Amino acid sequence: MSEFNNEIWFVGAEMSPLVKAGGLGDVMGSLPKVLLKSGINIRVVIPYYKNIIPENLIEIKEVYPAGKVNFGEIPFEFGIKTGFAMGDIPIVLIEQNHFFNREDVYGSHGGVCAYKDNLWRYAMFAHGTAYAMKILGIPLIVHAHDWSGGLVPAVIRQTLGDKKVLIEGTSEGILNAKLGRRINAKGLRPAIVFTIHNLAYQGVYGIDDFYDIGLDFRYNSSEAFEHFGTFNSLKGGIKLSDAVTTVSPTYSNEITTPEFGFGLDGELEMFKRSGRLNGILNGIDLDYWNPKTDRLVSHNLNLKDDKYTLKDYKAWENFKAKNKKALFSDISMSLKTGPEGKPFPLIGVVSRLTEEKGIDEFLDSLFNWKDFPFQVVILGSGRDNIEDKANYLSKIYRDKVYAITGSYNETLSHKIYAASDIFVMPSKFEPCGLSQMIAMRYGCVVAAADTGGLHDTVSDMTDLSEKNPSGILIKHANPDAVAWALNALYNCYIEDGSKWHNLVINSANKHFGWGDSAKIYENLYYNIIK
Ligand code: ADP
Ligand code: GLC
Repeated sequence: MSEFNNEIWFVGAEMSPLVKAGGLGDVMGSLPKVLLKSGINIRVVIPYYKNIIPENLIEIKEVYPAGKVNFGEIPFEFGIKTGFAMGDIPIVLIEQNHFFNREDVYGSHGGVCAYKDNLWRYAMFAHGTAYAMKILGIPLIVHAHDWSGGLVPAVIRQTLGDKKVLIEGTSEGILNAKLGRRINAKGLRPAIVFTIHNLAYQGVYGIDDFYDIGLDFRYNSSEAFEHFGTFNSLKGGIKLSDAVTTVSPTYSNEITTPEFGFGLDGELEMFKRSGRLNGILNGIDLDYWNPKTDRLVSHNLNLKDDKYTLKDYKAWENFKAKNKKALFSDISMSLKTGPEGKPFPLIGVVSRLTEEKGIDEFLDSLFNWKDFPFQVVILGSGRDNIEDKANYLSKIYRDKVYAITGSYNETLSHKIYAASDIFVMPSKFEPCGLSQMIAMRYGCVVAAADTGGLHDTVSDMTDLSEKNPSGILIKHANPDAVAWALNALYNCYIEDGSKWHNLVINSANKHFGWGDSAKIYENLYYNIIK
């Protein structure tokens, strides 16, 4: 028997609004908020980065004594802080200035130039998390995320023991009971859930690095981190957890195939077959991303109900026109009108600029398309070659293309979602994708690759059995196929008939909140400790 706190700890590298490098931050900020509202005791654990905005932290307290860990011969001290993030989510911060007091989360250029010591940094994070449990009390469940949370299951096991907690009777009441309740239960360690947000990032290092990060040598095995002679952080996370989830149903199938499995498809196939791999669709924070109340956009949507009908199209048209005018005035671009006398539709891109997002192919589709009938605003950071291409396009099509590259700007992202008619996302793979969900909430029609979470969220207008189409899905997102999809949307837009109005209204009606998915996670938590 051991003593546990009736809590679930979310452990990950980002949490919006404190710190965000992509969708992981959004999920770590929004899902705990929803679970907390339904009465579950959640804490979020993240590193104490330099770039966390202090105004977003509340009641921060240092917890004593500080912890210590040896990486090889080198001793490191670290601190633990507790408090609340904006929105009243209880948090634990792992403080280690040498590792976390830096400008970026993973490295510069949206993480493309990763810090060389990221393995040490996230090993420190795992040791800090396990130590925080010893001081603050062991939670019933730990929910770790992505490769950067991949060392958490191992360090928990080596610190507390291998035997998973087991509750007798119903677990529901326990997780929902008042915070701070202590439970005596069988087992030594929390149950561990692990979520894969993107299999393309596995935290792979040389196997020699294994000996410098404070891990028991027994984890140097193919049943843990060893993968064909390398150290694979994500693999260890998957292997040493009790349940694994990924962020959309379609992606959970795709990753069991060699095409999308990035070398871990065999492991994932085994998990899937034994019922331990689940695809649970992400949601977005519908309060934060709300066209009616969003303070970061220039004009709010003037409609009461959340269930839109075709009659509401005029209000949406107005919302788009006003936000487009404001955005264009911010970036000094003039509205261009096509031969049919209608303004060109505005295509928006808000994205990390890495190969996986297919923005390169989108840019090529415009390069190949003389006189393309669109205006385009691109916000993104990432690979130099893609940033350069976007900037070059904006140079040669000054009146039609505007690119903001090199860094991310949250306010501008809201303005682009609100102003764009079309949102483009031709990803080569997409575990879930939140940008398309946000874009739809702001009434954009989405042109997306037919993969992963995009397949699960965009209703394809070329599928004749689709009753409520909200965009277009592209089978093989090469430049020609992207152009084909954009041309099809342009034709709908210019006809100005019910087809375009339908697409906009269906899109805006999607409302991808956390509702159903949060319930699925709750059930997973209840079952995993029984
Ligand atoms: P991913 O996590 O793969 O980048 P998602 O679509 O899941 O893609 O998440 C996108 C989220 O990250 C949105 O909130 C979007 O506004 C934001 N975002 C997009 N590009 C960047 C960037 N370069 N830096 C930080 N956040 C970004
Ligand atoms: C990753 C994926 C993205 C997903 C996000 C949140 O960054 O690339 O598809 O939406 O995580 O789960």
